[in-house]
Formats: sequence, C-alpha cells, structure tokens
Amino acid sequence: MPRSRTPRRKVTVIGAGNVGATVAQRVVEAGLADVVLLDIVPGLPQGKALDLAEAAPLLGHDVTVIGSNDYADTADSTVIVVTSGLARQPGMSRDDLLLKNAQIVSSVVEQAAKHSPNAVIVVVTNPLDAMCHVALKASGFPRWRVIGMAGVLDAARFRTFVSMELGVSPVNTCAFVLGGHGDAMVPVPRYSTVGGVPLPQLMSPEQIERIVQRTRDGGAEIVALLKTGSAYYAPAAAAAEMIDAILEDRHKILPCSTYLKGEYGVEGLFVGVPVRISRVGVDEIVQVQLDEGERAEFEKSAASVKELVDKLGTYA
Ligand SMILES: NC(=O)c1ccc[n+]([C@@H]2O[C@H](COP(=O)([O-])OP(=O)(O)OC[C@H]3O[C@@H](n4cnc5c(N)ncnc54)[C@H](O)[C@@H]3O)[C@@H](O)[C@H]2O)c1
Repeated sequence: MPRSRTPRRKVTVIGAGNVGATVAQRVVEAGLADVVLLDIVPGLPQGKALDLAEAAPLLGHDVTVIGSNDYADTADSTVIVVTSGLARQPGMSRDDLLLKNAQIVSSVVEQAAKHSPNAVIVVVTNPLDAMCHVALKASGFPRWRVIGMAGVLDAARFRTFVSMELGVSPVNTCAFVLGGHGDAMVPVPRYSTVGGVPLPQLMSPEQIERIVQRTRDGGAEIVALLKTGSAYYAPAAAAAEMIDAILEDRHKILPCSTYLKGEYGVEGLFVGVPVRISRVGVDEIVQVQLDEGERAEFEKSAASVKELVDKLGTYA
C-alpha cells in the first residue's frame, strides 16, 4: 500500500519570536496549512514548533508544524510571512529600526523567495512600509505578491476603541484606515461604522479625535506597558486574517500596504489602502473618494513613508 502523503499547503513564518510564533499558532490551530517556523537562532524555532505540535491532539487539528534554520525546508510555500527583525524597545521609534531590519529582511526574503518563487509574501517587520520595499526588491516578485500587514491591525485597534467607547460588540464595528503604518496613519471615521451607521452619527468630534489619536499611538501604548518587546497577539491575528484570505482565495477587501503605481495619486511607494486579497495576493486596489482633509492627511502620511524609503539606499 503506498504510504506517501499529498503535500498540503505550506506557510513559512520567518522569525520565531513573539509575532512569528503566534502567527504559526494561529495558522496551525485554524488548520489552515502546514507551517515551517524559521529563525536564525538554533533550537528556537524547533522548540516552539514542537511545543505547538504537542498541542495538536488536544486542540484537534492535524496540520504539521516544524521548526528550522534551513531555507530548504521552506520550499514551495504558498505564503511567506516575514517577522524577523528587531522589535521596538521603549523610547525607540519604528524609524530607528530602519537599516538594521532592512539588512535582515533583505537577506531572509532573498533566500526564501529562491525556494518558493510563486509565494505571496506578507511583510510584518517594522518600519512596515519601508520593509515592503526591501522585500519587493530582494524577492524580485511582482508587486501584487508583496503585501504589508499594518492596516488590518490599525483598523482592529480602532474598532476595539470604538467598541469600548460605545459599549458595543467589537464584531459589530467596521473601520477604515489609510496611509503608512506610523504616527501619520489616517483612520477615516466617515467610512467607519457600527452596525452600518457611520461613526460621526454616533460620536462627538472630540470622542472621535480621542479614539483616532489612541489608534495612532496603539503600538506605543503597548510597548510602554510591556517595558520589553512590543504587541504580538493582535498583530499575529491581523497577519492570520491576511494569510487566510490568500489561502482560501476569499477576495476580501482589507487595508494593506501595497505598492502604488499612480493609484491615489502616489507613484512607486508602498502605502496602506484598501485592497482585495485573493490567492494571487493583491488582485485589486480599491480606490475610494477622499475629501480635502482626508487627502491632505493621506499625502502627509505617504510623504513620511517616502522619507524613510529614501534612506534605504540600495535596499529599496
Ligand atoms: N506591522 C505591524 O503592525 C507590526 C506589529 C507588531 C510587530 N511588528 C514588527 O514585527 C517584528 C517582530 O516582532 P517580534 O515582537 O516578534 O520580535 P521578536 O524579537 O520577538 O522576534 C524577532 C525574531 O526574529 C529573529 N531574527 C532576527 N534576525 C533574523 C534573521 N536574519 N533570520 C531569521 N530570523 C531572524 C530573532 O531571532 C527573533 O526570534 C518587529 O520588527 C516588530 O516591530 C510589526
């Protein structure tokens, strides 16, 4: 009797730290795909993967999860998630991480892309939009197969704060966030709703402004509380939402960092906008109308991404 198994879908998660290991956990616990967790530190991904595998009988899934330091094990992945890099420490801006993480992202993406030339890359490492440029260049992939995770997390934070403010279920909320992942991100209350009702009909401008500011500071608020390291439960859930949309070919509209070529009046830059995510990666950039104030904020946000990208030199 032949005992070979048909290969299943594979997701590679590079970086077995807080975000990477939690992404791996979410993917295996949802039974979405086999997972390879890869890190530069010997033993770390193997230990975390074994620990995750040992939970399978209790949680009732049968996908495999292995840890590795060898890119050969990542071959033929459908999705590559890049979380390797340094996390922010208290008082450290995302921008401080720029060149160190550019070096790491460039090297891991080059190796992973060679082994999985048809994969979709989901970038998580900060500073997010700049790291997407590094991944695009290092992979040589078309622009629709390199996507940055930021807007899904920023929108989830915005929704959480709306639900807390109004005392409604977070699943009842919907939020629209544009722009780069950083202090200049642009939550758009006009397109954010609770039960279909636009936010400006449910809250005062002061309440909205307070929530918008808390969303912008969402990452820093958690860094300040944790003292060491940065957020990972919600970031991992946000990455898993994107991975699910790719693997299941869902055609979901999600706010993601994507390479714009004239859309929204931006040329040659990764910025967060609503995109439709399917098996191919980004299969459509959804263009919505912005009023004058929103457009000005979006342009300011794009300019701050451009400033970082200009500092990347040969990495971009
Ligand atoms: N996009 C977002 O919204 C968002 C949200 C949260 C975190 N992040 C970013 O994600 C990244 C990871 O955060 P974390 O909390 O998991 O950090 P972490 O320090 O817990 O994990 C990072 C891992 O990367 C590994 N690594 C470093 N260099 C490597 C290399 N060359 N090859 C393979 N692995 C390597 C480290 O060994 C470590 O295990 C950070 O840059 C953080 O700022 C982004």
